[in-house]
Amino acid sequence: MKDLSNKSEDKHTPPVGGDGGLHYHDYLQLDKILNSQFPESDKHGLSAHDEMLFIVIHQAYELWFKQLHHETDSILKIMSKPALNDNSPELQTVVHRLNRVVTILRVLVHQIDIMETMTPMDFLDFRDMLRPASGFQSWQFKELEAKLGLKFQHRHGKEYYTSQLRQEHIDVVKKAELDKSLLELLNNWLERMPFFNEEDNWKTFSVHTRMEHVPSFWAEYRYQYQNSLADVEKDNIDAFDEIFIKDYPINQEKSLSSIASRAALFIMLYRGYPMLQLPFQLLNALLEIDEQLSSWRYRHMNMVHRMIGTRIGTGGSSGKDYLKAAADKHYIFREIAQLNSFLIERRKLPFLPPEVEKRLGFVAA
Ligand code: HEM
Repeated sequence: MKDLSNKSEDKHTPPVGGDGGLHYHDYLQLDKILNSQFPESDKHGLSAHDEMLFIVIHQAYELWFKQLHHETDSILKIMSKPALNDNSPELQTVVHRLNRVVTILRVLVHQIDIMETMTPMDFLDFRDMLRPASGFQSWQFKELEAKLGLKFQHRHGKEYYTSQLRQEHIDVVKKAELDKSLLELLNNWLERMPFFNEEDNWKTFSVHTRMEHVPSFWAEYRYQYQNSLADVEKDNIDAFDEIFIKDYPINQEKSLSSIASRAALFIMLYRGYPMLQLPFQLLNALLEIDEQLSSWRYRHMNMVHRMIGTRIGTGGSSGKDYLKAAADKHYIFREIAQLNSFLIERRKLPFLPPEVEKRLGFVAA
């Protein structure tokens, strides 16, 4: 007879607390973590109270960077699949984890509040003892930027960004630059959007213009966009053609091909359709990541200015000037943000053919 008691499960039930069972202290390796703070000022016999805060904050940042890598790696893995269904649990997972990345980044921005409780004079008590160490040597930070899609050619100061890293860490960052980044995978995913088959019959109900080389939907859209421009904006139509109409693949300057750009704009325009809701959330999360990273860079830069004024950084850079240039240049998903310049009012959107509407999930089959 089948044993219905819980006895058979006993051997699988972990002991609760006490000797022999898994202990909180061991599980979290607290011996290592809590014994990893060694202020330089103590070593010099000139103990500076705030150096403990300085160390703990940096360690907390590096732990969160580790978690960001964990999330990003899993996102890259899913996005690398040749066929990612756009309404699938996998896409939900991508969006969910991207939102987690955003939430962690928000915490990282706020952590600067704690750092700023240290005054410039408190910092001066130990600052010179740290040379030439600097946050500039955070390889996890640079690796993360690379995984997200920041390419070498778009970095401020080019070679400079790895100049202070150890060879083993340069290798890690360079590998991340060679591997497919989130931005590249995004481009591939957008190019193969199932609803966005360029060979489809993209007829609209009212077509004002016909352009031979573009599907008629985009000819109509272009017409509406051009009409929406104020006199001073008229040149925007050239940028429109450059981005969406001239068929180009990705290159050194453009991370999104024209096909991918059209798909992304389409998602933004018709995001109310069920099939496009997750794709829209995905694009939105990427913009949020850029915004949070940029907030971090600016808050860090202002904190640096407050702490050291115009003096050079412990890592030897021009300090605030270097950080400002990097903050201005290191937007990763800039081309997605730029698409917002090409939106038109909802009521002017071209009608979609019924077969497309059906595919997007509004019209019953
Ligand atoms: C008193 C607080 C801080 C000061 C004065 C400071 C100063 C600087 C300076 C001057 C630089 C430019 C490179 C150099 O010459 O050193 C830099 C870069 C950097 N710092 Fe900080 N920092 C502080 C706190 C932090 C914290 C808490 C983190 C967290 C991890 C951090 C992470 C970074 C990173 C990642 C860079 C490289 C940024 C880039 O390349 O765009 N810093 N920091």
